[in-house]
Amino acid sequence: MDVNGKVAVVTGAASGMGLAMARTFANSGMKVVLADIEEAALNEVVNDLSGDGHSAIGVRTDVSKLDEVQALADETLKEFGAVHVLCNNAGVGVGAPVGNTSIADWKWTLDIDLWGPIYGVETFLPLIEEQGEGHINSTASMAGLYAGASLGAYNVAKHGVVALMASLERDLRWRESKVRASVLCPGPINTQIVDSERNRDPDDAAAHIDSEQGQKFWEFLTRTLANGMDPAEVGPMVLDAVINEKFWILTHPEMGEIAVNQSRAMLEDQRLTR
Ligand code: NAI
Repeated sequence: MDVNGKVAVVTGAASGMGLAMARTFANSGMKVVLADIEEAALNEVVNDLSGDGHSAIGVRTDVSKLDEVQALADETLKEFGAVHVLCNNAGVGVGAPVGNTSIADWKWTLDIDLWGPIYGVETFLPLIEEQGEGHINSTASMAGLYAGASLGAYNVAKHGVVALMASLERDLRWRESKVRASVLCPGPINTQIVDSERNRDPDDAAAHIDSEQGQKFWEFLTRTLANGMDPAEVGPMVLDAVINEKFWILTHPEMGEIAVNQSRAMLEDQRLTR
């Protein structure tokens, strides 16, 4: 797909990988709509992009609310008259083992990380199909391909996102649509995700169950991500998938082996790998 002059909507665009996608799209001649729950950060990045001469607007959006996602689509059409690309990227995470995860943590994670992309697809797909071409990408994770310990709610949400996008891509091919879908499965990227609770209602966050396992894992994750890939590197990977119609986007392909090994063990001795 030729992206020049087309319109892209990116959620979670005030920080990390979403910001990188929005910048990369804008540098490729796209008009960009940045959506995020964090209004001050959103305004700052939109001002930066506009100051650089790009066509960019910001729409404060909570992706866990269907009416706000619909309002995002309305604003996009009002400003630019069309939409061609959607990146369902906003996400949060919490370190907690299954059996020790509060219902509030399950709901918070699934509402944003899984319902957000579902609302995005259901709202934007008909609008994108009207254009006769386009692309929907969602950010899952390596946690969408392999469910490790201490991250139960996140693993469930991200496996759901991978299934959502694979189902979507196959449904699009079934009806010979020109719209394509893809899924981004990042490994460790140096972003603010470890500080996800910054946007959470404190009353809701208070329901979090502090477990030693969850805390240790979060400390390990914080160290790992601090040494992770620069999010700026991820924007061009997503643009490449949009232009060249790729489905899987793995920032760390070597980590994909973990999913391959799991599938092999499933067939060979029916045991779960470590
Ligand atoms: P980040 O925290 O830097 O950016 C996430 C953005 O989403 C923030 O600007 C935040 O304000 C926004 N956001 C949070 N809740 C929202 C809501 N309800 N509605 C709208 N916006 C909301 O983190 P990062 O890493 O850039 O996250 C982007 C995506 O990448 C997420 O889906 C995350 O799960 C995923 N991911 C991140 C990895 C990493 O190593 N950083 C690895 C694998 C996946």
